[in-house]
Amino acid sequence: MKVTVIGTGYVGLVTGACLAEMGNHVLCVDVDARKIDILHSGGIPIHEPGLQEVVQRNAAAGRLEFTTDIARSVAHGTLQFIAVGTPPDEDGSADLQYVTAAARNIGRLMTDHKVIVDKSTVPVGTADKVRETVAAELAARGVALEFSVASNPEFLKEGAAVEDFMKPDRIIIGTDDERATLLLRALYAPFVRNHDRLLVMDVRSAEFTKYAANAMLATRISFMNELSRLAEKLGADIEHVRMGIGSDPRIGTHFLYPGAGYGGSCFPKDVKALARMAADAGLPSRMMAAVEQVNEEQKRVLVDKVVARYGEDLRGRTFALWGLAFKPNTDDMREAPSRVVVAELVRRGARLQAYDPVAAAEARRVLALDLGEPALSQVHFMASAPAALQGADALVVVTEWKEFRTPDFEAMAVTLRDRLVFDGRNLYDPALVRGFGLDYRGIGRP
Ligand SMILES: NC(=O)c1ccc[n+]([C@@H]2O[C@H](COP(=O)([O-])OP(=O)(O)OC[C@H]3O[C@@H](n4cnc5c(N)ncnc54)[C@H](O)[C@@H]3O)[C@@H](O)[C@H]2O)c1
Repeated sequence: MKVTVIGTGYVGLVTGACLAEMGNHVLCVDVDARKIDILHSGGIPIHEPGLQEVVQRNAAAGRLEFTTDIARSVAHGTLQFIAVGTPPDEDGSADLQYVTAAARNIGRLMTDHKVIVDKSTVPVGTADKVRETVAAELAARGVALEFSVASNPEFLKEGAAVEDFMKPDRIIIGTDDERATLLLRALYAPFVRNHDRLLVMDVRSAEFTKYAANAMLATRISFMNELSRLAEKLGADIEHVRMGIGSDPRIGTHFLYPGAGYGGSCFPKDVKALARMAADAGLPSRMMAAVEQVNEEQKRVLVDKVVARYGEDLRGRTFALWGLAFKPNTDDMREAPSRVVVAELVRRGARLQAYDPVAAAEARRVLALDLGEPALSQVHFMASAPAALQGADALVVVTEWKEFRTPDFEAMAVTLRDRLVFDGRNLYDPALVRGFGLDYRGIGRP
């Protein structure tokens, strides 16, 4: 099939590459010429395990192409996937300007039948807006062409995006159009060969499902984070509690990890957008408000622990920071808890020695915007995890990269001046760490 993917970000590039891998002829279009240049030169603009190989293989085979040429992209695919960003607007609602721009381009330039597929996470009712936008452009041109609009929300996880796309838990298709259903079923058939995990439903339910999924996951995290604070007060260990409840199949073990708060490009904005949708519908969501509030507070928990130990004035203190990306296996810094930790420590005068296996360049870029260049000089980007410890008073673990899981505690106890570890992801066994003469402070542990 001929497929156009609009937007070559985390979702668009993975979608395009994986659809090409199954033999489709995919054209990926982006308005960001820098990204397209990187792709043309054989690189990829993001860090995503396994993606580069799929992109290179399919580009070499001629099945995966990249362009900034909108007219070419509209002409190419019968299926037009919209995978552009939907960042939060000032009132928390999803900003649909990029989705609308993509729809306008299709309406302005199409000359034959198109199935437009919203893959971006968009509020319930957006497919109707996309339909109206395309119809208005066609009317302005005075042409009558058939098209349909379907919803196909994406559930991939950054860091495991290729695997998730190739072996999806489910594929949701929202449409009331027979032709669109047939095309999308055929497109996805190779991904669900061993058993059919394709769910076809009405468009609004499909749009809503994506928000419901992310809201549920964010709720589990905030629930555990709130309980972790109570556990500390009550003298219980939230890690034992986590395992105690996770073993109940009705609860399950996933997404029960207390930590330094959730971040990323999805949970924060989708929780906000769902809250906005609920408020607009006259049914304000008390749960989404609480999930967001707990998370905002949780992003400060590590700083509170540092301040409890060292006081408000952190001038003359140096902290090693392990992990900057919002989660492991990505360089994505959007809404990363590390940004709050860095800003709050720097504001109090601390010097930071930060290390992240892949996100340092992206972190430097966003932290320059967050802090301004003068304050950024307090943050030193180090080449390795042990290097970040050299000359530091204490270690603050912010992201649970695998390489942080079994550090050399013996060396750490010699290197860290105050022999102190703030474990923002409960990576370590407190007794083990203390056995090396280190002081240990985790999340929700006595
Ligand atoms: N990142 C994830 O893990 C994830 C997972 C599931 C769903 N989503 C959703 O998918 C959507 C995209 O997310 P992302 O993380 O890939 O975003 P992103 O910011 O990484 O990529 C979006 C891309 O769209 C491009 N773009 C914007 N307007 C365009 C236009 N008119 N024509 C062509 N290209 C245009 C941008 O230049 C950018 O490269 C969002 O709605 C997001 O909520 C993201």
